[in-house]
Amino acid sequence: MAHLFTPKKVGAYALSHRVVLAPMTRLRTIQPGDIPSPMMADFYGQRASAGGLEIVEGVSISIAARSYLGAASFYHDGQVEGWKAIANAVHARGGRVFMQLIHGGRQSHVEMTGGVAPVAPSVVPFEGVALTKDGFVPVSPHRALGIEEIPGVIEEFRVAAQRALDAGFDGVELHGANGYLVDQFIQDGTNKRTDAYGGPIENRVRFLREAVEALISVWGADRVGVRISPSGEWGAISDANPEATFSYVARVLDEYKIAYLHVIEPRIKGDDTLHEGHAPVAAKYLREHFSGPIIVAGGFDGESAEAIIESGDADLVAFGRHFSSNPDLPFRLQHKLPLTPYVRAAFWGGDEKHYTDFPAYQPAQQPETTV
Ligand SMILES: Cc1cc2nc3c(=O)[nH]c(=O)nc-3n(C[C@H](O)[C@H](O)[C@H](O)COP(=O)(O)O)c2cc1C
Repeated sequence: MAHLFTPKKVGAYALSHRVVLAPMTRLRTIQPGDIPSPMMADFYGQRASAGGLEIVEGVSISIAARSYLGAASFYHDGQVEGWKAIANAVHARGGRVFMQLIHGGRQSHVEMTGGVAPVAPSVVPFEGVALTKDGFVPVSPHRALGIEEIPGVIEEFRVAAQRALDAGFDGVELHGANGYLVDQFIQDGTNKRTDAYGGPIENRVRFLREAVEALISVWGADRVGVRISPSGEWGAISDANPEATFSYVARVLDEYKIAYLHVIEPRIKGDDTLHEGHAPVAAKYLREHFSGPIIVAGGFDGESAEAIIESGDADLVAFGRHFSSNPDLPFRLQHKLPLTPYVRAAFWGGDEKHYTDFPAYQPAQQPETTV
């Protein structure tokens, strides 16, 4: 039976444990230009461990793909050195690091997209927020992507993947979760198209397929992962039949033999637990449809992570909030040490405080919370 600290091969890599850093946008790039900052390199370096996997926060693939001021992006040469420093910081400690690539789609504002209307598969009323210099503000009205524009967006994914490769990353993860552009194409609440990209599920996954193929063209399938959030509610996303839709998505991705499928459990909405006390359900039904490694995320502690790996429903567990305040989380889980509580007020922007100043476990530390 597998455990949290049983080695696991994930695509091209032999990992020595199954505690993964979940992608977390922390809005700490240098402005203007979304330059990856030295404190970001510190953050990822601190959380690296020998044979461990980290997935770097959502990285916008173009100006039009941006959603949050201060969030990461990778579309110009001035960002190369910053991203190299992050990859180097993880490698220096023997870790592996994938870059999550994102297009925000309708979850944006003209101030973030270079003055143009945010794009989506279809125009559907949406009351979300974007983050601009004025704080969280209502999103700008979006427009539907013309079918002739889609190859250009796919090409942006390919170019960003190439940049990640050139910067020394170990792989890329396509952000197909949380109601951003890829997810907007997959789910029928946001995809009302009548062309080859809309209607039946075979068509609604066409955009996903093309984006995955673009990433594979750069990296090979064994260095590409995909994140999904079946029944997730972030970004007001919805589908008439999430289980059928995402089971189909899992089967499609299985064909490509990608490195892993990364699943957010529906008890989570974005950065918070929505349904306290709900058991994980999504990885369980997706397991039937995906034969490669499954990374599960959302609301896990050491005990429940161990349980889901032992059950066989998932192979690895990604931790977000607990990893934010416990840079040595794998060590602490392995030795059943207490965890330092996370600080929500520092999640969305700020400086080093409650970002890179959380210490590794000190033997004299008083238990602050038990897991
Ligand atoms: C501050 C913050 C930022 C996040 N940013 C991202 C992101 O960029 N991409 C993503 O896929 N998920 C993002 N998430 C979601 C996490 O990856 C994860 O799914 C969520 O925190 C649930 O896991 P947890 O219960 O271990 O925290 C974010 C979460 C937090 C708390």
